[in-house]
Amino acid sequence: MSIKIENHKYDVLVVGAGGAGLNAAQVASQHVKTAVISEVYPTRSHTISAQGGIAAALGNLEPDNWHWHMFDTVKGSDYLCDQDSAEYMCRMAPEMIIALEHLGLPFNRTAEGKIAQRPFGGHTAEYGKRPVKRACYVADRTGHAMLQTLYEKSVAQGTEFYSEFYALELIKNGDAVVGVLALDLQNGGLHMFHAKAVIFATGGNCRIYETNSNAHINTGDGLALAMRAGFSWCDAESFQFHPTGVYTAGNLITEGVRGEGGILLNGKGERFMEKYAPTIKDLAPRDIVSRSMQKEILDGNGAGPDKDHILLKIDHIGKEAILEKLPGIHELSLVFAGVDCIKDPIPVVPTAHYQNGGIPTNYLGQVVTMKGGKEVDVPGFFAAGECAANSVHGANRLGTNSLLDLVVFGRTTGEQAAQYAKENGFTELPENAGSEGVALLNKFANGTGKNTFGPLYTKLTKTMQKNVGVFRTEELMTTARKDLIELESLIEDYTVADKSSVYNLDLVEALELNNMILVARAATEGALARKESRGGHYRDDYPDRDDKNFLKHTDITSNGKDIKVDYRAVRLKPLTVESFEPKARVY
Ligand code: FUM
Repeated sequence: MSIKIENHKYDVLVVGAGGAGLNAAQVASQHVKTAVISEVYPTRSHTISAQGGIAAALGNLEPDNWHWHMFDTVKGSDYLCDQDSAEYMCRMAPEMIIALEHLGLPFNRTAEGKIAQRPFGGHTAEYGKRPVKRACYVADRTGHAMLQTLYEKSVAQGTEFYSEFYALELIKNGDAVVGVLALDLQNGGLHMFHAKAVIFATGGNCRIYETNSNAHINTGDGLALAMRAGFSWCDAESFQFHPTGVYTAGNLITEGVRGEGGILLNGKGERFMEKYAPTIKDLAPRDIVSRSMQKEILDGNGAGPDKDHILLKIDHIGKEAILEKLPGIHELSLVFAGVDCIKDPIPVVPTAHYQNGGIPTNYLGQVVTMKGGKEVDVPGFFAAGECAANSVHGANRLGTNSLLDLVVFGRTTGEQAAQYAKENGFTELPENAGSEGVALLNKFANGTGKNTFGPLYTKLTKTMQKNVGVFRTEELMTTARKDLIELESLIEDYTVADKSSVYNLDLVEALELNNMILVARAATEGALARKESRGGHYRDDYPDRDDKNFLKHTDITSNGKDIKVDYRAVRLKPLTVESFEPKARVY
């Protein structure tokens, strides 16, 4: 049967409409014909749930500078981040905040009218001496405000949007990336987007964990598509467990709560972070706080009848401050924990929050791959935001560096891709373009097997939560590997009950599950191979960091059957002052 595919041609195609995708799009569409495809309506993207702020050494409330910010970022990453990218991001940050302000982002203000700033975990002054107020914020809805602002600007700039389109295949011709095949969820139509440059801004994958803070769409689709096209996943084992997810639900309770004075208490009412991080206490980096919380729980010091959570106390800062600076948290706690945080502490547990690694890129967001033992640029392929590893987060991201990462590298990839599109013509689509995506779609649409989404997804998330979580061991992760191999075979015997083509979310779930099993397996193999503890990757059986053997990026590829674990060098050399300005900015 011949399949009808509608064709489109753009200079730049952006996949994903979170902060990174929208910032890339609004920049690229100032220069070339640009489209965005997004699984959801853009303003429903996961960036909307970013709460506490965006880091920039503005020094509005106390002295600060980008060197201190870069130091914190590198140290916070447990030295696994690429230092050229970290320098680029931290130096760009103040300029980026002003650019966002000029686009209309309504930041909170100080009494004198400056952009207000609050402290966040791991951000310090004078190279670790004391916490510093570095996070610019819009109450506790910073991502929400950012997404609306960037969407408005992208629309005004003439970006064309294909909302509720689900990407099925990343198309290559030779070494170059030339487009994407996508499914229109409204009617089941297939669309081929032929582009000179493709920017992936497809977000993260923490839905592979049972307790997570992520949107429903964060299923690692971009990573899976890139891996199927032969690209790698850098630092696949590196996840961030945010200390304060609502107990049982997992939703984020911003670190801004602790930035505004909130404290963590165990079941005995003790402020236990004084013991684990005497200088910065509750504002230590997230990996340290999450581990400390989990340790308290495992040691029998948790709160509640089952001693299985921690309490986040904020009532002492007063009703007025809570309602002015943390209104979203007040509401979230009421809805998801049944707690009024003006009076009572919020029950919290660490929640899977962020994938630190991603598709490897250089500091300008151009995807790189290994060829003949050397790292080379991939023509026409760029990546930004959570799906990318530029890599500024290494083994642990600092809070508020994600919104910064996505706007800085969103802008840069938008510029770079637009320039690439101006300098290069279209590379032809290959003859069989889209055939793999169509085959995958048909396999699930027509499957008549025994298995369905619910039981398989539950098995996936439970094994990841239990065996590849905050504390990891060879034994636990070998169990996860076994479970995942079983899931790989179970999904081959699958059925999708809904046979319609209009909003067939049963079918989309099958495709997402298929992607999640691949990314979970890759993450587990990376974690098994990294026999050390670094940042959020903590192994009870290898409790120390081992720079001699593991100061290197994990680089995972898949041939469709097996997962291969390789390594790449960490870029330890920062940029020089001379090379920064001319190369970094195109427009
Ligand atoms: O805690 C938070 O508001 C989260 C911020 C982040 O992940 O950067």
